[in-house]
Amino acid sequence: IPAGTGQQVGIGFESIAADTLPVADVVRVPDGYTAELLVAWGDPITPAGAAFESSATQDADAQEEQYGAHTDGMHFFPFTSRGKALSDRGVLCANNEYTQEEILHPDGLVGASGYGIAKCRKSQAAHGISILEVRKLAGKWQVVKDSPYGRRLTANTPMIFSGPAAGHDLLKFNDYDITPSGSVKTGTTDGFKVYGTQNNCANGFTPWGTYLTCEENWNGYFGSTTGSVPSAASGETGKLYNRYGVTASGFGYLWHTADERFDVSKNPNEPNAFGWVVEVDPFNPESVPVKRTALGRFKHESAQHVVDAANNVALYMGDDERNEYIYKFVCSGKYNATNRAANLNLLDSGTLYVAKFNSDLTGQWIPLLPGTLGSNGIALRNNPNFSGANDAEVLAKILIKARMAADAVGATMMDRPEWTAARPRLNGYGKIEVYCTLTNNNRRGSSASPTSNATDGSTTAGSARPAVDAANPRANNIYGHIIRWQENADTVLATGFTWNIFAQCGDSVTTKTPYAQYSGDIVDNPAGSADIGAPDGLWFDWFGRLWVQTDQIGDGSGDWINIGANSLSCADPNTKEFRRFLTGPNKCEVTGITMTPDGKTLFVGIQHPGEESTAANPTQFSNWPASQWSFASDGVTPLPGGRPRSGVVVITRNDGGVIGA
Ligand code: FEO
Ligand code: CA
Ligand code: CA
Ligand code: CA
Repeated sequence: IPAGTGQQVGIGFESIAADTLPVADVVRVPDGYTAELLVAWGDPITPAGAAFESSATQDADAQEEQYGAHTDGMHFFPFTSRGKALSDRGVLCANNEYTQEEILHPDGLVGASGYGIAKCRKSQAAHGISILEVRKLAGKWQVVKDSPYGRRLTANTPMIFSGPAAGHDLLKFNDYDITPSGSVKTGTTDGFKVYGTQNNCANGFTPWGTYLTCEENWNGYFGSTTGSVPSAASGETGKLYNRYGVTASGFGYLWHTADERFDVSKNPNEPNAFGWVVEVDPFNPESVPVKRTALGRFKHESAQHVVDAANNVALYMGDDERNEYIYKFVCSGKYNATNRAANLNLLDSGTLYVAKFNSDLTGQWIPLLPGTLGSNGIALRNNPNFSGANDAEVLAKILIKARMAADAVGATMMDRPEWTAARPRLNGYGKIEVYCTLTNNNRRGSSASPTSNATDGSTTAGSARPAVDAANPRANNIYGHIIRWQENADTVLATGFTWNIFAQCGDSVTTKTPYAQYSGDIVDNPAGSADIGAPDGLWFDWFGRLWVQTDQIGDGSGDWINIGANSLSCADPNTKEFRRFLTGPNKCEVTGITMTPDGKTLFVGIQHPGEESTAANPTQFSNWPASQWSFASDGVTPLPGGRPRSGVVVITRNDGGVIGA
């Protein structure tokens, strides 16, 4: 993994124009670059995989051998040869966050065939992670379909819990025999066994070569066939449902109507199976994915690692919901650069912290440990939400109810923390500096103005309306901002930091003055090059440049009339330059980014092109990638049209140089 091996390299391309109304249904990159499709939803990634059929009639079994839906965070793990990381061959791990059922099934969610287990199983199989071998052959990147590394992890794949909360009663669920015709109850799990991962949004990776996938809006897949769920006032389960947003109808996926596992009236603890960071070994296809409970349970966005000069390891993590928190996990053990096996359980013990941002541009990491005093002066072990037989059980409850522990200690409510990114410590720059996108927030500013969510779990997820504060200065933050902090004394063990706002995003042309940018530390030159909104994906490359991806409506209308399509921009914290590198197709989100070790190939995810298209008219807003290309990545297979498909594009420089330089 090429962390910090490079030199700082500046930005060498000209900013491309915003793609305004009408948004072109293509990916655009600067002159001198080429974007090609690598893989899209439904493409086969295993030896058993069948070619995608644009009729969408393929079933769950087929989907389990094909690239999943709605691609999101990803990472390229290079193969090595004689100890050197290769840049033309590796394993790509990519999240498949969610589905649009209108596009996934030929007749939509509830069409002529109604809704039943077949649709449910296909939907579950389209979620999770895709692991695929990719290789550059004769100058063209392609999927190695017959690779032994090709693998899908879905909402039904067996996994295990590890770490301090593993084995706790709250992690014991109904056990099921998961079959094509339904989930048949066989008993109760032991608190270690768990099925599946879903709503995998952003990601991380570790210096020891494992992939981290983060479970975000997992709550929306649950429902209750009784039509109601326990209230917050009724006890522990109701408080958890309320604080994390588990409701009787969820997001409308209907899994709970066909698969008892997701029906909370029959399997009330199952929501606790999700909300974790899952560690996966991409190079061991037989390995069982591990849910690392030490990292806490919330709506995880990304998990960005930093290894400090003393080999201490931290992960920085956002909880993406309005007025939720930013967390840091510090491992108890140290990274061992010469013994991979010694690192494989590092994420099982350590301290979870939550961030408090003060108005004087300092901040604190507050530990979420049994003895920590909350803002009311009560140690977490004496708070009824975390009561247990001993501190080991208290800690397990703190981790399972991490949001409620963060409420109790008075962490700072943020404007939807999405991705975190760590600035590499290259020549001339030695600080530990971490950035986080705060994508937007329309729930801030009221007479009540709570400084934390209710500590008894009675605050419904996302409903609080805190006042503006220094770190979240807009009452209606349509365009979002990017915050950054530096750890005190250049160690990840720091419990204090300093912070500032790197970019307050917006539209330099707008007359809506409250939203004009650019307070912060970027320069809009040439004018309009820094116009972005709803920053989401965020990643530092090996050369010290920050890449910013956006997630707004993406059709160039309304608040986005000047900002246009979603985009990928590149920022240089040294020069404050901020330039637009890529614009996406209609109604897509640009999310997921990774690079080969040599920096000469960039992989970028295009998610949900044509969102809102219907089963009756699947190409209503987009039929990307067919709208841009005629052939699949092999250059031979005709690209099927008919439905928009999320996918990964591979970007190279025509002169073979480093991307962005
Ligand atoms: Fe799935 Fe917070 O984005
Ligand atoms: Ca995201
Ligand atoms: Ca988002
Ligand atoms: Ca989106």
